[in-house]
Amino acid sequence: MHTCREIATQLMAPGKGILAADESIGTMSTRLENAGVEGTAENRRVYRELLATTPDLADGVSGIILCDETLNQHCGGAPFAQALHTLGILPGIKVDTGAKACPGLPGETVTEGLDGLAARLTRYAELGARFAKWRAVYAITDSTPTAGAIAVNASALARYAAACQEAGLVPIVEPEVVMTGNHSQIRCAEVTAAIHAEVRTALELLNVDLAGMVLKPNMIVEGADNPDRTAPADVAAVTGKVLQAWPDDLAGIAFLSGGQPPDRATANLAALQHLRTPWPLTFSFGRALVTPALLAWRGDTTRYAAGQTALAERVRANAAAVRLRTELQRT
Ligand code: 13P
Repeated sequence: MHTCREIATQLMAPGKGILAADESIGTMSTRLENAGVEGTAENRRVYRELLATTPDLADGVSGIILCDETLNQHCGGAPFAQALHTLGILPGIKVDTGAKACPGLPGETVTEGLDGLAARLTRYAELGARFAKWRAVYAITDSTPTAGAIAVNASALARYAAACQEAGLVPIVEPEVVMTGNHSQIRCAEVTAAIHAEVRTALELLNVDLAGMVLKPNMIVEGADNPDRTAPADVAAVTGKVLQAWPDDLAGIAFLSGGQPPDRATANLAALQHLRTPWPLTFSFGRALVTPALLAWRGDTTRYAAGQTALAERVRANAAAVRLRTELQRT
């Protein structure tokens, strides 16, 4: 059996990142329908198959995060996880059951999914999954996130991470400060730093091995309704300051894209490679990788290859950004 540390190292392989294709059934159906494709189980399967079988995907992608439905579907005639292993890509699984209204904290959420988690992790590992993902969500307003939301979500993230490591799955720990709102980059930095501090404490209390875990944070950017557009060098500098509190033994950091336009996410990822950090910094993008592919394909069988080409182009750009680190370290 592979240890969590070994799997985490494979996930963070130089020049590669992670593809997040784990949208829930509801979210995926809405995205398909917005692209003119009926939101059926078969269309969701075909779309994930298109992504996974993109030629040479493994050159820039170390792992793909799936949702429960996809892990139970087939890709090219084989169970999805088996198909990914054959392609040289690690299968991952989103194991939270979503951000739900948090009792006592109006307007805020706590991510659920701890009930029965150990049994589900065992089953996912048997199906071939090697890593997992859990996303906590925090929105910035004048009064949020509150200390309560920060505390309950940190506790859940840590319980999830510890359970994953016991089941032999690498936890991707994702505390996401969403871009909704008009807040400044500095406010995003303060909020993200406070959340990370609480997450670190919770992980430490449950003896989570950071060397067998991947952190998936938001980049530190201004709110989507703020007309300022922080330049990549400034995004990198401030993001680096927030992240520097993470211990050296963390296996790696894989950023979410959070709704940034694909080009901006890539430019920021490239700028981040100039930081001297003890851990590798890569991508674990969803929308910034797959949106161009979905729009190129739109469910049209004659546009299948165009969809794959669009994904390959985004993967190439982001893998090139990550490879900058290796080049810079050589100089
Ligand atoms: P985005 O890159 O679209 O933010 O998605 C990443 C992800 O996995 C969200 O949970």
